[in-house]
Amino acid sequence: MCGIVGYIGKRDAYPVLIKGLRRLEYRGYDSAGVALIDKKRRLNVYKTKGKVSDLEAFVSPKDVSGTIGIAHTRWATHGEPCQANAHPHFSSSENLALIHNGIIENYATLKEKLQRKGVIFKSSTDTEVLVQLIEFFQLSNHLDLLTAVQLALHEVIGAYAIAVLDKNNPDEIIAARKSSPLVVGIGTDEFFLASDATPIVEYTDKVVYLQDGEIAVIRRGKTLEVVNLDNVLQNPEVRTVEMNLGQLEKGGYPHFMLKEIFEQPDCINDCMRGRINADGDKVVLSAVIDHKERLLKARRFVIVACGTSWHAGLIGKQLIESFCRIPVEVEYASEFRYRDPVIHEDDVVIAISQSGETADTLAAIELAKEKGAFIYGICNAVGSSIPRITDTGSYIHVGPEIGVASTKAFTGQVTVLTMLALTLAKEKGSMTDEKYLEVIRELTVIPAKIKKILISNPKIAELSRIFTYAHNFLYLGRGYSFPVALEGALKLKEISYIHAEGYPAAEMKHGPIALIDAEMPVVVIATHNAMYEKIMSNIQEIKARKGKVIALVTEGDTVVSKLADDCIELPETLECLEPLIATIPLQLLAYHVAICKGKNVDQPRNLAKSVTVE
Ligand code: F6R
Repeated sequence: MCGIVGYIGKRDAYPVLIKGLRRLEYRGYDSAGVALIDKKRRLNVYKTKGKVSDLEAFVSPKDVSGTIGIAHTRWATHGEPCQANAHPHFSSSENLALIHNGIIENYATLKEKLQRKGVIFKSSTDTEVLVQLIEFFQLSNHLDLLTAVQLALHEVIGAYAIAVLDKNNPDEIIAARKSSPLVVGIGTDEFFLASDATPIVEYTDKVVYLQDGEIAVIRRGKTLEVVNLDNVLQNPEVRTVEMNLGQLEKGGYPHFMLKEIFEQPDCINDCMRGRINADGDKVVLSAVIDHKERLLKARRFVIVACGTSWHAGLIGKQLIESFCRIPVEVEYASEFRYRDPVIHEDDVVIAISQSGETADTLAAIELAKEKGAFIYGICNAVGSSIPRITDTGSYIHVGPEIGVASTKAFTGQVTVLTMLALTLAKEKGSMTDEKYLEVIRELTVIPAKIKKILISNPKIAELSRIFTYAHNFLYLGRGYSFPVALEGALKLKEISYIHAEGYPAAEMKHGPIALIDAEMPVVVIATHNAMYEKIMSNIQEIKARKGKVIALVTEGDTVVSKLADDCIELPETLECLEPLIATIPLQLLAYHVAICKGKNVDQPRNLAKSVTVE
């Protein structure tokens, strides 16, 4: 939530900052703002409600000169999205400007204290408290900016990634992090600052991921210094990021979401690369092999995740239980962290997260760690917080996911979970050699099968037109397809704002059947598998109540196609790998319904890509 960018060097800062904000807009787009110090040491702050494009329009006749600046794109937490609440926030004297990603939990107490000392607030955000507090310390004790920031952060409870400018020192940015991500890019005589590496990669591949409690002192012409809140010098690791610009552009597609849906065959190949051997008969997930004793002695696995990643976890449960015969529980990280869960030292917690920054998932990991569990992370964003705090883990390697609705990360997560279950099953001897080989062989042809489904994109686009009238959708599946139904429903509601529910098909008669009438489209995953006959009865029940059935069927199916109003054919695969196939048309359906309704699919309202607040 919220994207922050900073620059100091020889270039004009404004274009760097605006480009950076565009790359980070997936993190929030309620309001945007920029602060620049010009040659005459004027600190110019421009901000507006709306997106980065609104900021550009707002700024266009104004002075945006300066080679130092910070900028912000906001996802509102405290205070409605409006100009006053947009970042950067000024201090009372207007000497300091600050941007913040996170939540200051004790802001009300701090605000009251400052108000009693006469400080007047202009916004209703938690962030303004921080800039006022820094200035309060600075002025009352005649301190330099760094010391004032350190004192202020000692008072703060909550999560933050901040950057502060002081117009009296136009050659310095002070930036700090706790529980919200912050990356410093190191160029030649210039520095970049951002919530993730995407705004930085076109200028430099050398980055430092700040750790919790660290403060970056970024000074023009000097080397980067990192200290902690007590001013002890830290030894930051300079890392090389491997990300190319092409991955961050739309590449001819109208939206990132569509591009990312179409990238899935390549992404799954990338995810398997180096993990499945050339003969296609062995899978090795190195983290599993390295920690096999610990993993195999687990009494149970607990998967923690949120949203789409949680849906991947539900599939992971079925894979691990079926292949490895190890009991698996799947928990919403947000529930797990607060309900005093029973965690044993021999438990293994698998944390799944695309961004690697989700606050609830991070907190669930910390809790499980305190109780001695072993933590395995499955993440996409390399160098993000979750991979840094887990005991081990596997990246999904699907490349940056920019569209707010998760697509390729989901199939990447399911692919890694499949490889994890296979690797562990082999070590445990819980799977027959025939079954093991059969699954690997089929996994390696999944990308080609997805390509086949993508060919039906125009047909799905056509079909979507009919359903834009709907106010509700039901998605039904059983077994491995139930989480796919949940995921299909989530995609539709996120980007088209149509209410949608995912249900295990047999549960329909315990309630949701009451909703079915001629206005109600029901998407049923009715492929050839062990549940085929059962799901057929569910379709009959829907048709008897005049519901509209859109069925996902196995190629060549002639039975369901007679019953259903519309069918989308899927290539045949193993039941345990069906989620990788069946998810694709549901992503496309959601995409096209949203497009037909004129919605902004890449930036749906009220959402943000990376939920770094609870
Ligand atoms: C849905 C979506 C969200 C995320 C959730 C967890 O399309 O993107 O539901 O899946 O916020 O995010 P990560 O995986 O980054 O922890």
